[in-house]
This record gives sequence, structure tokens and C-alpha cells, in this order.
Amino acid sequence: MRKRVLLIISGGIAAYRSLELIRRLRERGLSVRCILTKSGSNFVTPLSLSALSEDRVYSDLFSLTDEAEMGHIQLSRDADLLIVVPATANILAKMAAGISDDLATTALLATDKPVMVVPSMNVRMWEHAATQANLQTLVARGVVPVGPVEGAMACGEFGAGRMSEVPEILEAVDAFFAEKANELPLLGRRVLVTSGPTHEEIDPVRFIANRSSGKQGHAVAQALAALGADTTLISGPVSLPDPEGLRTVHVQTALEMLLACKTQLPVDVAVCAAAVADWRIAETSVQKIKKSSDQPPSLNLTENPDILATLAQRTGNKRPGLVVGFAAETENVIENAVKKRDEKGCDWILANDVSPSSGTFGGDENSLHLAHGEGVESWERMTKTDAAQKLARRVCDFFEAA
Ligand code: C5P
Repeated sequence: MRKRVLLIISGGIAAYRSLELIRRLRERGLSVRCILTKSGSNFVTPLSLSALSEDRVYSDLFSLTDEAEMGHIQLSRDADLLIVVPATANILAKMAAGISDDLATTALLATDKPVMVVPSMNVRMWEHAATQANLQTLVARGVVPVGPVEGAMACGEFGAGRMSEVPEILEAVDAFFAEKANELPLLGRRVLVTSGPTHEEIDPVRFIANRSSGKQGHAVAQALAALGADTTLISGPVSLPDPEGLRTVHVQTALEMLLACKTQLPVDVAVCAAAVADWRIAETSVQKIKKSSDQPPSLNLTENPDILATLAQRTGNKRPGLVVGFAAETENVIENAVKKRDEKGCDWILANDVSPSSGTFGGDENSLHLAHGEGVESWERMTKTDAAQKLARRVCDFFEAA
């Protein structure tokens, strides 16, 4: 997935350097979108920014066309990094005070993403106590400043306040993304996770279900997303809220779950944690089945597709790079898990004991055994959240070693 930068160009003489910056950022494979302030447009034109970024340029907070295309909140959150370049004394002051009187400052106030500022101003303005206090406030809030440097100014004075050159800005951007890659080792990886039970319809009011709570699958999706993975959770009916920071697709039946999984392909990782019903009713009744005095109705079952095996047995780029299944067993847990891994053709199986005495189904803890190509590892009993994080770390190791 391409990383995205939102450039906010305010009105300083160094604004022309943003053009070169866009070019260099794009050469690095980053996508660049621009917001141009009114005063910025005295120094660079929307047309040149648009040509270099190959995107439209946003400038008006109250433009219906801008809002229709992308609301200002979404605009501010759609990027991985915001860079204010040049950052004038004025925009720094507005940021510090939380003023949002145009699109640029509104986006800066509304964003939940990291912000970098590249100050550029006259030396007296830079050294002024107000500017220094504003910068301190911003740095304390996590804003990353780049520069300024000392040098000759456009106004004829000499000193600090001159905007950093493009290579220095790029160095800071590279360092930012390198650090982020360390924190988010799964950034750019696409992941799908199935979770929860499936409900197989008998008639309009009845269904076959199982006791899966979805807690483990949801925790796995959340742990993978927390490491930066672009995650889709395909969930059967559960009473858990949709986790934040990922997409949740709701399904009822095994057939719907399989279809939803196929729609997500290609992915780098598939984790099938759902307790998919092995069977469905061969012919569901359109009307509610009536109780009669004769024999109770017999339910004619037919086998559901095995989603895990289907994904594992796909070929080419339609096979996820890593396919992980869960095996809920009530006896011979490890032995059955190893057998299941071979039968289904998945890479890893996490086996757990779901006998009623284990308290795993619906509980908050799990004792898992990871069966992979080289053998089986038994993990100590831990919370489902911890187990999910441990699995997510293993997924990172897998890609690092690949
Ligand atoms: O065969 P069994 O149901 O024990 O296998 C469990 C594993 O297979 C789990 O990972 C589950 O999500 C997956 N599975 C599936 N589709 C099915 C049945 C099981 O994906 N129809």
C-alpha cells in the first residue's frame, strides 16, 4: 500500500520548494495530496501543485465540490503524515492556538495523524518569544519540526529562519517512515480474519449455531491491525462491537463467509478463526416449519465448504502468503491439529482444547499449541488478547524471515 503525505502549503517565499519536494516524495513511491492556503497561492499556483502531485489541490473549506469529493475531516485523516511546508509564523501560531479558520488549519486541527512542520520566516519573527513559545507548545504535542537553518533570507537579513532544503526534509520524512515501519511492521500487508460462529438457516425463524463468541478471532484481527496491517474482519453473528482501526464485514452463513473471503483476495495473510458450521440445511424452508402431531421434522444436512482449505488450496497470488487455521478439539488436541494442518493444506494451525472443562468457548483465556512445518509449540495459558498479540508477532517474524 502506498504511503500518503498531505502537504499543507502556506504563504511564504520558500513555498516554491514544495514543488521540488512533491517531485522527490513521489519518486520515493509516496502519494502526495496538497492543501494550498490563500496566501500560499500568492507564491505557487494550484495548477503546478496539481500537475506535480497528479491529484486535485484542495484550498476551500466551504467548497461544495471539495466536500463532495472528500470531506475535510477525511482529507485530514486519509494521509499517513501531514507536512506543513513552508510553515509560516502565522500558521504555527494558529496551530498552537487551535484556530481553524481555513481548510489548512481545520485539517490540522481535525487530524489524528502525525504532523511535521518546516518553519520558514524572517529571523526576527523566528526568534520572537511568541513563535518560540508556539513551537514549544506544538513540539510538546508531538509535532515534528524540521529546521529552520541559518542563512541569507529573501528579505535581505541573515540568521535562523531559513527553510530547510529539500534533501533535509526528505531525510526527516525517511526517518519518520523508517521509525513507523519499526512500530508497524505489518504496514502495507493485507490481512483477512474470519471470526465468530455461522448461523445456518432452517426456516425464517430458526437456525443452527454454535458457541463461538468471536473473542479470539476479533482479538487476532485487532492485534494484526495494531501492527499496521490493512485488516478485514469477516465476522459471523457475535455480540462483540466492531473493533476500531479495521474493516468489519458481517455475514450470517458459511456460504456468505466464503464469498466475503474470496472478495478480499489477494491478501498476504488469512487467519480463519471462525467456528464455521460444518453443515447447513440442504433445503431451507421459506415458511416457518409448523409443529404437527406427526413425526418431528427431520433436518436434511449438506456439507458446507471448508473456507480454510479453500483459501489454502488456491494457487498463484490468490493463495495468501500465510494461511492460519484454528483447531478446536476436545481430545488428542495436538495430534488432531497436526493432522488437520496437513489435510487442509494451511501453513499453521493453532490448536486449543474446547472441552467444557477448559472454559475456552466464550471465556477470556486460551491455551494454544502452534503447529507449523517444523513441529508444535505449546504456549502457556494466557488471555485471548495476549494470544492474539503473540500470533501477530509470529506473523511479523514470518515475513521478516521470508
Ligand atoms: O475442521 P475443523 O472445523 O475442526 O477446522 C477448524 C478450522 O477450519 C478453523 O480454522 C476454521 O475457521 C476452519 N473452517 C473453515 N470452514 C469450515 C470449517 C472450518 O474455514 N467449513
